[in-house]
Amino acid sequence: MKVFTRRSRLKGTLTVPGDKSISHRAIMFGALAEGTTTVHGFLKGADCLSTIDCFRRMGISIEEKEGTIYVHGRGLHGLNESIQILDVGNSGTTTRLISGILAGQSFPSVLSGDASLNTRPMKRIMVPLSMMGADIRSCKDNDCAPLIIRGKELHAIHYNSPVASAQVKSCVLLAGLYAEGETSVTEPALSRDHTERMLRSFGAKIRSEGNTCTITPPQTLYAQHIEVPGDISSAAFFIVAGLITPGSEILIQNVGINPTRAGILQVCRNMGADITLENEREEGGEPVADLLVRRSELHGTIIEGDIIPTLIDELPVIALMACFADGETIIRDAHELRVKESDRIDIVSRNLHAMGADIIPTDDGFLINTTFGKEEIPVLHGADIECCLDHRIAMTFSIAGINADGETRILDSSCVDVSYPGFFEELERL
Ligand code: S3P
Repeated sequence: MKVFTRRSRLKGTLTVPGDKSISHRAIMFGALAEGTTTVHGFLKGADCLSTIDCFRRMGISIEEKEGTIYVHGRGLHGLNESIQILDVGNSGTTTRLISGILAGQSFPSVLSGDASLNTRPMKRIMVPLSMMGADIRSCKDNDCAPLIIRGKELHAIHYNSPVASAQVKSCVLLAGLYAEGETSVTEPALSRDHTERMLRSFGAKIRSEGNTCTITPPQTLYAQHIEVPGDISSAAFFIVAGLITPGSEILIQNVGINPTRAGILQVCRNMGADITLENEREEGGEPVADLLVRRSELHGTIIEGDIIPTLIDELPVIALMACFADGETIIRDAHELRVKESDRIDIVSRNLHAMGADIIPTDDGFLINTTFGKEEIPVLHGADIECCLDHRIAMTFSIAGINADGETRILDSSCVDVSYPGFFEELERL
């Protein structure tokens, strides 16, 4: 458990841990490449360690020396059957991406995760993989993990995905590496494009036009050096902390600002935030910048439509920010929040309501109403916070706790290790 009380003047410079999505992909694509892939800035959070563990169980040697990860790839057909269940922990990305790879192998695999993971919907990958000829089943017949995947010969499809999900898109494209013919995916709005960027750098033939992405096998992937930028989804907690905590000024260095991920910056600007991008550059095919964040007077906004996939993981902390923005904030088209590590619409609303915020959950988002009145800042009060094994809830409500009267107690705080080991120490340091 962690306890927070009101603080002011967060000051200093920090770097956030490596990007979770990019770290997963570096291990996976490195394992399927010829040669040794080196990864610098890898996120050693529990989710990405689950990915490493799964590939080790399939015979891939992965080591760490002086902060660099070495993935000794064995080529597209170099994986071995694991004698044990592949433990995917809390990680939806591991589960859905690896399923695409496993569908095209010559051996069977079983995947299972923790209590949260094993309730998350897997039909979204079972449908397209089955269309490609894969044999993928839910052991409990509930469209959730544990999953049993018996590798098969796959054929290409064109998949019209009903959801804007990078995990679904990546799963189908990875299965496409093993399929006969060109596999393509069209999504309703563009989701994060790290798979496309990184697979291309590994030598895959992959092209993107609008919301459609197409991959052409057969091909060899070649080992690469990957520089992992800081994760904007982790930076988000300090962006919001800097904007709402009185007297704050924070410099967050080396943050990935890929346009398919950086929707939070646009929303902050729309709300009147003072954020400056410094030292903009490109590293390893991904745009990166340092973010200077200063405490700002914020106002409400509407967040909807195509921007949603570019900030989906940041919506819990954006909802908190809206409690410190004058007027009404409407968040809609974010139904996906209901099937993340927890039902984030339900849990964010319940916890913010317990702290005294005026927040109404809707089917696909939130309505948040804040009036400043005579107070210079709106007053939240401390509460006991349930995290439901959801790292982003624990971090969101730590930031809430330092901006609330009384004590905020984060009951199951250890889940932050999923994406941000050292988060509490960093917040303390600032
Ligand atoms: C991810 C995609 C997103 C995101 C998740 C990571 C990825 O999930 O929420 O944290 O690395 O591909 P969906 O694909 O379910 O939107």
